[in-house]
Amino acid sequence: MTSERTITIGDEVTRAWLNKYQGWEEPYRTTPGHILRLARRPPMATITKWTGLGPGSSVIEVGCGGGAFGLALAVLGASVVLLDIDENVMASAQANVKALSRRLGRQLPVQLVTADLLHYDGEEKFDMCISDGLIEHWRDPEQRLTVLRAHAALVGPGGFVAVTIPNNYHPWSQRWEAQGWPWTKSDNPLCEAKLSYQELAGELQRAGLSDVMVDGYLVWDTLSKWPKSKLRQWLVRALKLILGYDRVGPWPLPRRTRLKWGTCLLGIGRRPG
Ligand SMILES: C[S@@+](CC[C@H](N)C(=O)[O-])C[C@H]1O[C@@H](n2cnc3c(N)ncnc32)[C@H](O)[C@@H]1O
Repeated sequence: MTSERTITIGDEVTRAWLNKYQGWEEPYRTTPGHILRLARRPPMATITKWTGLGPGSSVIEVGCGGGAFGLALAVLGASVVLLDIDENVMASAQANVKALSRRLGRQLPVQLVTADLLHYDGEEKFDMCISDGLIEHWRDPEQRLTVLRAHAALVGPGGFVAVTIPNNYHPWSQRWEAQGWPWTKSDNPLCEAKLSYQELAGELQRAGLSDVMVDGYLVWDTLSKWPKSKLRQWLVRALKLILGYDRVGPWPLPRRTRLKWGTCLLGIGRRPG
């Protein structure tokens, strides 16, 4: 299931990820339960609706960490490659593949690759390349463009690139920063870029993609994002249940509200065919 490659680590941000992860409790841990819920929810519903991809499609998730997005798509029938530079996180992705396959009673078609996205020499072209919370760690726009182009290079003509980033223009961002949110602190080597939804759309276009759309999601997580509290997380879960979030997606919020109050943004573009 796993294929190792010669890993070239050529850039500062990637090195910072590897250093931070050594002996550090992984902040992006995901569980099979979370992946199964994600498969039914926005942004997954938006991605499948917008791209039209479904069972049998081929997908690569880059910078996959525990593999939440790629594995949710595998649950929905896609054949998936998970790629990350860090072998520790690949071990957790592998554990998720095993646990999900056991739970679903079928082997998920997932291949794991440990490699640097920026020096990846795989020849396969996919229907979609997706990343979740990756590109914003390159604060330099030109470097970010290189990263986006590396996504686009992995899809065939007509294929899709989908990226998610935190919405660092969220109306409460400054409040979270004042309360100690670590990811926008400039002394953090992995400090995130601040990108509006218009800027995200522009960057996808600059990377050569067309038919670009951007949406906001995880609006209700505004209430529980930071500081973390179990109680508030449970309250948001209850709220989502009451609102029927699993059944009806981001309803009843209009797109304008999702773009403003969503704690995350999703951007999708298409490689011209
Ligand atoms: C913010 S984490 C996101 C993990 C996962 N997508 C999630 O949201 O749970 C970024 C991930 O990208 C990986 N990464 C960083 N630079 C990379 C590179 N150049 N090639 C492949 N993976 C990389 C890190 O090891 C880390 O697992």
